[in-house]
Amino acid sequence: MRILPILALVAVSCGPSGPRGHAGTPDDPWVIGMSQCNLGEPWRVQMDADVREAAAAHENLQVLFKDAQNNALTQRAQVEEFIEQGVDLIIISPKEAAPLTAPVAEAVRRGVPVIVLDRRVQGDEYTVFIGADNVRIGREAGAWIRETLGSGGSIVELKGLMTSTPGQDRHSGFLEGIDLEGNPGLRVVFEGEMQWLEPNARREMESALATNDRIDAVYAHNDPGAHGAWLAARAADRDDQMLFVGIDALPHEGQQYVAQGILDATFLYPTGGSEAIDAALTLLGGGTVPKEIVLGTRLFTRENIDEGGEAIE
Ligand code: FRU
Repeated sequence: MRILPILALVAVSCGPSGPRGHAGTPDDPWVIGMSQCNLGEPWRVQMDADVREAAAAHENLQVLFKDAQNNALTQRAQVEEFIEQGVDLIIISPKEAAPLTAPVAEAVRRGVPVIVLDRRVQGDEYTVFIGADNVRIGREAGAWIRETLGSGGSIVELKGLMTSTPGQDRHSGFLEGIDLEGNPGLRVVFEGEMQWLEPNARREMESALATNDRIDAVYAHNDPGAHGAWLAARAADRDDQMLFVGIDALPHEGQQYVAQGILDATFLYPTGGSEAIDAALTLLGGGTVPKEIVLGTRLFTRENIDEGGEAIE
């Protein structure tokens, strides 16, 4: 899925001192190790599919996929295994920042370039980071809810995993966009951490509904979370009383929910899979790539869903 223009390019990363062993020919392809933090969530299945599809166009490239099953220690071990195995480059979409920082840094120190996708590690010991600007997306979501609610309303925020950078950034961006100080009629009446998972979101929303007679909008850090909230509200026969806003906008998930009238809005969170393969090829070929590659977003609402949403400039 080749979706978005690259919006911002900062600093530049040099290629490694040279590929680690493979020639990068069809007979001796470069080997990329891809560590995915889990494959239990549709967005991550899509990311691996995007990497696979982009890599399939290059005979001189082979990708080995590993699924860390949402366990940071497993993921750490996967990075170490890739280093030992002698892969030429690692792509990682880390579960959370702190535990994956050291293994990524170690790979880089040992001459293996590392492309970090979507969730960040700490510091700057990685080769390239590719992902959308989650502060920006959170801010846009907050502003959309503020403008749509008008003078006031009660809001529920269902947060992703708060030890991962998208959770932190989607929260801080949202607070900027909703601007509670400038809009005294708006209130966040409930905050829950659903850790990106629909069943958790449903449970959190049940608590929010039980303790609040009035809820006007739900902001969930991803579409599974927004859908879980909607399921809880529908079970309580209150889904018509509130807006549901999510993030990810996969065609077969969030966009579908908007088309079905379940979600009111969702913001595209591109996987970066094809961009990662482009960057990998450049690095393996000895070229340079920007250290940060920031992907754009799109807003999907009931009004624009048939036209494929609208780009956020
Ligand atoms: C999948 C996911 C997405 C979300 C992203 C944030 O694991 O939860 O829904 O946008 O991770 O890293």
